Amino acid sequence: MDKLRIKGGTRLEGQIRVSGAKNSALPAMAASLLTSDEVILENLPFVNDIFTTRRLLRELGASVEFQDDHSARLQAQKILSHEAPYDLVKTMRASVLVLGPLLARTGKARVSLPGGCAIGARPINLHIQGFQKLGASVRTEHGYVEASAERLVGAEIVFDKITVTGTENLMMAASLAEGKTVLQNAAREPEIVDLAEMLKDMGAKIEGAGSPTITIEGVRELRGTKHRVIPDRIESGTFLIAGAITDGSLEITDCTPGHLASVIQQLRDAGSKIDVRADRMSISQNGGLRAADVVTKEYPGFATDMQAQYMALMTQASGTSVITENIFENRFMHASELMRMGADIRIDGARAIVTGKARLSGATVIASDLRASASLVVAGLVAEGTTLIDRVYHLDRGYEKIEEKLRSVGAQIERLK
Ligand code: EPU
Repeated sequence: MDKLRIKGGTRLEGQIRVSGAKNSALPAMAASLLTSDEVILENLPFVNDIFTTRRLLRELGASVEFQDDHSARLQAQKILSHEAPYDLVKTMRASVLVLGPLLARTGKARVSLPGGCAIGARPINLHIQGFQKLGASVRTEHGYVEASAERLVGAEIVFDKITVTGTENLMMAASLAEGKTVLQNAAREPEIVDLAEMLKDMGAKIEGAGSPTITIEGVRELRGTKHRVIPDRIESGTFLIAGAITDGSLEITDCTPGHLASVIQQLRDAGSKIDVRADRMSISQNGGLRAADVVTKEYPGFATDMQAQYMALMTQASGTSVITENIFENRFMHASELMRMGADIRIDGARAIVTGKARLSGATVIASDLRASASLVVAGLVAEGTTLIDRVYHLDRGYEKIEEKLRSVGAQIERLK
């Protein structure tokens, strides 16, 4: 298993490029199942979740060819299997995104239940209830969700809780349903808007994506398209924090700062200077970092996917900050690893109380999930001595060549095979 070795203490300086958004690319790849035509995707991040999805789509009968320029040609001329097996779903929960497209296109789907993970229980009950509203019969047996329907019929679906992949799954399914579907209390993330744009290019009739109410008028068939995946806002935000924590000066390019408004505001409150342009932003420090409380929320609020990295940052701010995690019930696994590096953090239910500025010292730490790993990387960048991060496969699920990108701006970081 690969490890990352980081020698802390260098200021990051220079330019760093953002890859395509993993969480947009995943539903976009699943959406290719909705048509027998070819779909071309551009700006795919070459990360492990995307390779897992390629494997899944191939198992379902699609052809998927990646090109060196980060584009891919996908074509599901025929669907040969209706099943997302346990083996794949257990390594990547987002496999559940094939449920909607398979059900809508072929009338049946069988997908392993994902089960809990390092950040919480993460049920998919809201996806299932949504499909039932569209007329599917759904049962769970032997650890699998089995859904079937002659043809889905549009309905009004009110989500009890805002769910990102739930909204995506239902939006894809409703695109091929008969009649009108209204999704209420829908997620508003940029990834939802990106998927809606792609589906519209394929011939879907969707209005309101990006607002809490999405209306979808079902069509009989969808066609192929060429779609460019939006930049990864979480990778962008992680680099902002890497810049801030090292007292560095970074320009982050090929990103969409508009998708990071609450992160940018939060970092300004903590004392960073951030200049924003259309597709790039630069960060430098205005003196020392200050403690600033944060609460994670659904978009446009502060993303839960930035919470772990922000916690690492707050260990280096002067004063006490309270970080409240509102989306997942168990997303503080990084805190104990940060404490092993010398951070002063107290967990009180959904709140983490961080007191800075702590002297971090390099240690051997274990990454528990994707964003937790990212927080250990940014902590390692300022820790005294050497930090060794184990289980880097979590990081590789969602960050493309992070060590190369950080090295190019001065970090002393290397991968040990
Ligand atoms: N929830 C339910 N029932 C459901 C669905 C969700 O109770 O049927 C709960 C979840 O347990 C959670 C909350 O609703 O407490 C929100 O979960 P959501 O469904 O929005 O999460 P997700 O769609 O499974 C996506 C991202 C996550 C990101 C969350 C929240 C993808 C592939 N994944 O997950 O990304 O944290 O939204 O923004 O888009 C990551 O990239 O590291 C990552 C975990």
